[in-house]
Amino acid sequence: MAGKTPLLTASVTTWTLPKAMDAPKKVTITIDGRVIETTEGLTIIQVTDSIGIPVPRYCYHPGLSIVGNCRICLVKVEKIPKLVPACATPVQDGMVVYTHTDDVIEARRSVLEFLLLNHPVDCPVCDRSGECYLQDYYMEFGLYRRRRFAPRLHKAKAKPIGPYVILDQERCILCTRCIRVCEEVAKKPQLGLFQRGNRTVLDVFPGQQLDHDYSGCTVDVCPVGALLDRDFRFKARVWFLRRTRSVCPGCSTGCNIYIDWNEDKPYLAQGQRVFRLKPRYNPDVNRYWMCDYGRYGYKYIDRDRIPQPYRQADGRLRPIEWSEALEFLRTHIEATLREVGPSGIAVLLSPHLSTEELYLGRKLFVEALGVRDIHYEMPTRDPKADDFLIRPDKFPNAAGARLLGLGTEGSSRAILENAAQGRYRLLWLVGQNPVRCYGAELFQAVVRQTPLVVLQTVNWTESTALAHLILPATPFAEKEGTFINAQHRIQRFWQAVHPYKQARPDWVIFQDVARALGLPGWHYVRAEDVFQEMARRLPVFEGLDYGTIGDRGVVLQPEKATVPSGVGA
Ligand code: SF4
Ligand code: SF4
Ligand code: FES
Repeated sequence: MAGKTPLLTASVTTWTLPKAMDAPKKVTITIDGRVIETTEGLTIIQVTDSIGIPVPRYCYHPGLSIVGNCRICLVKVEKIPKLVPACATPVQDGMVVYTHTDDVIEARRSVLEFLLLNHPVDCPVCDRSGECYLQDYYMEFGLYRRRRFAPRLHKAKAKPIGPYVILDQERCILCTRCIRVCEEVAKKPQLGLFQRGNRTVLDVFPGQQLDHDYSGCTVDVCPVGALLDRDFRFKARVWFLRRTRSVCPGCSTGCNIYIDWNEDKPYLAQGQRVFRLKPRYNPDVNRYWMCDYGRYGYKYIDRDRIPQPYRQADGRLRPIEWSEALEFLRTHIEATLREVGPSGIAVLLSPHLSTEELYLGRKLFVEALGVRDIHYEMPTRDPKADDFLIRPDKFPNAAGARLLGLGTEGSSRAILENAAQGRYRLLWLVGQNPVRCYGAELFQAVVRQTPLVVLQTVNWTESTALAHLILPATPFAEKEGTFINAQHRIQRFWQAVHPYKQARPDWVIFQDVARALGLPGWHYVRAEDVFQEMARRLPVFEGLDYGTIGDRGVVLQPEKATVPSGVGA
């Protein structure tokens, strides 16, 4: 690419909507015979989208500026002699629009014929098959009769252009959506169009890579199979994937996402159930986007999982049943309380836990057992942040822990240092990796000086080799619950896949321990039951339930956060 300059980037063709007036004027238009009152300044496609009339699009994306270059969205407007692009034509009072007349269909068919002149017949081997707009519109408007038999032009295929993205120039329809993502979302122009005419290609700028923090979003917006996700490519056909709504646990923004998964036998045999995370539209949080760190941070769900409880015996970890683990814990907790009282127990919860789990952790350890040394914080190894989505707080629920009054005094490190001095009989670590966060030396001293160190976590880590009792927990994809993000927005996430082997959600483990101890009032069937109790007891959640939180979440009023301190429910 050396010496080439981009012929066309989005910035030279961008056509933006006029700024909203103080009081948006209402206009009345007619679309396919339906009379609609709408707002002046919107384009025809924005209005058709809002009322569910399908108009095809390639270059138009609701989260990007409008360029109007593909012409697949042509519609007929009365009193205008030529067809007009629905994405770039603002509505006007009295406008009469037709989206499916014969001439509109014929125009779309011609646009498709033009786009497909040099398009390779790659569908059977293209990873975008099943979610490609070329395929979809061809089935709807295709000419089905080829009129050009000259050899197709060839361009670069399967060209890695960044750590996560691979480009097939032959499949590109030059819509410039990906260019606009770089310029407008990531604010890092790295892609452009080069050459002229039918030799025009999309490529990275000379000497550059597509390596900004939102590079995966270029794949999301590409309407065809030109930009593909190197991580997902050829792992699964999209029509075999199932989709579950969730929230990214990668930082305290809490971007709304989908988990795409399949746990049928052939995929289980490959050892992969979760295949990709995709952004889910939430206008109040992440709109259409998510960062690469969150997008590719899911691998731990299917890797290095702890299949069942383990206990140290004769210098090595031995697998045990849950019943043995719970009985062992009951005996040890009762003996500790009897002999030294609750000061012999310390607990580190985790800002990765759901709000329901933090609540039950607090209810078990603080309210029922009277533990005072409890904290939740973890150091962040890479506090990278930007002024868009990525926050330095890399935990999805630190705000939830704060609202529940956890860790108001001291610190996690102080608790571990106390444990290294032999201050506790029982140290319970939930979702923590103390070796990685505080160093092996400190944790080795903790394990030497504390009769029982419990590690309740998802994956095998440096720390699991040292702890006395390992309890297998589940990651966010294997349970339901809520996270509270940095803006105090409480958001739901749903269970996608089953818990791995004998792993249990942390809230279930807390309940199992409480029941083993014979504590009253522990009869939750679902995380929702826990939330209902929270809404009854804690003013900050008053009036809320899973229905009212819904898909997009609800902003809490943190000043209402007072938590009960007494023993029992
Ligand atoms: Fe459009 Fe995809 Fe080509 Fe980018 S790579 S211009 S998004 S078709
Ligand atoms: Fe996840 Fe934060 Fe990235 Fe959003 S910005 S995708 S919450 S890591
Ligand atoms: Fe309207 Fe491309 S979607 S011109």
